[in-house]
Amino acid sequence: MDLASAQHAVLQLLGAVSTSDLAALLDWMRTTRDFDEFIHDNNDIILKNIAEDLRNCLPLETMLSSEQVAIQKIKQQPEPIIHIDAFLYDDDFIDSLCEKGRMSRNYCTVCGSHQTAPLRFISHSFSPLELKFIYQHVLPDLSGKVLVDVGSRLGPVLFVGYLYSSALQLHGVEMNQDFCQLQEMIIAKYKFMDRIKVHHADICTQASLLQNADVVIMNNVFEYFLDRSEQSRAWEYISHNVRKKGTLLVTVPSLKECLSNLQVAIHLNQWVEEVQLNYNIYAEKDIDREALEQIHLYKIV
Ligand SMILES: C[S@@+](CC[C@H](N)C(=O)[O-])C[C@H]1O[C@@H](n2cnc3c(N)ncnc32)[C@H](O)[C@@H]1O
Repeated sequence: MDLASAQHAVLQLLGAVSTSDLAALLDWMRTTRDFDEFIHDNNDIILKNIAEDLRNCLPLETMLSSEQVAIQKIKQQPEPIIHIDAFLYDDDFIDSLCEKGRMSRNYCTVCGSHQTAPLRFISHSFSPLELKFIYQHVLPDLSGKVLVDVGSRLGPVLFVGYLYSSALQLHGVEMNQDFCQLQEMIIAKYKFMDRIKVHHADICTQASLLQNADVVIMNNVFEYFLDRSEQSRAWEYISHNVRKKGTLLVTVPSLKECLSNLQVAIHLNQWVEEVQLNYNIYAEKDIDREALEQIHLYKIV
């Protein structure tokens, strides 16, 4: 049934309800949770549509010529890496690309021989499942709260937060202008502007945003995009400005791992306490548990 016919059918149904029951029915329609299933299904469809819109604007590897530092860093890795964006491409999609010969999950270890090894895949975005895990199982109710995604790239943290949380404001800070434009395109198309704002900026200029945030999300923000000294400077800036007691900080990977190769004067136990997460939520489903286990939650002390 198309939209116009559905609207007509609903109005016809309402017209057929006895006058004495109409107010109660409308009240039920406004407050019932019986529609949740349809709303959530619809949110999944919206996310798939957003991913398709973004795929149509980007090359398969989802890297832009404007991010030379990241491209160079990936080239310098000792083993070949496939960069594929987990928000845009799910496993079924990758399988279909492999079947069409547009991608491979393996590489030849000795040129010309049949010896092959699995390629390492990395994603610069969270997958929809990881994001639902964060909003539905890691974070508390975000009504009235301000969330900041440091390095928002294509915006999935913001879009899933809009659809699956009650956060009052969702701020993305992204230093790459091309990615900011793509986020703005989606925000305008899906009318997310009442709660999402994207800032084209280096996070190290956004002190007040960080100081006022109730939740800060940091998914592998700096490692591939900044050199070591810039990473250290950025982490020190974050630790100086994310200070409000009780603020929640979600990181991938753990803070310990993020800081392990950097020279920084950050005393983790004086800044944060880790909140243990239950990664068994989807135990019965076919999910990438390793990816979920990279997600860590901290509370500012
Ligand atoms: C791994 S992506 C994270 C994507 C997104 N937050 C997600 O989880 O799906 C990291 C992004 O951070 C951006 N970035 C790196 N350093 C930054 C900085 N100092 N200020 C703002 N953005 C930065 C990069 O351009 C990149 O797009």
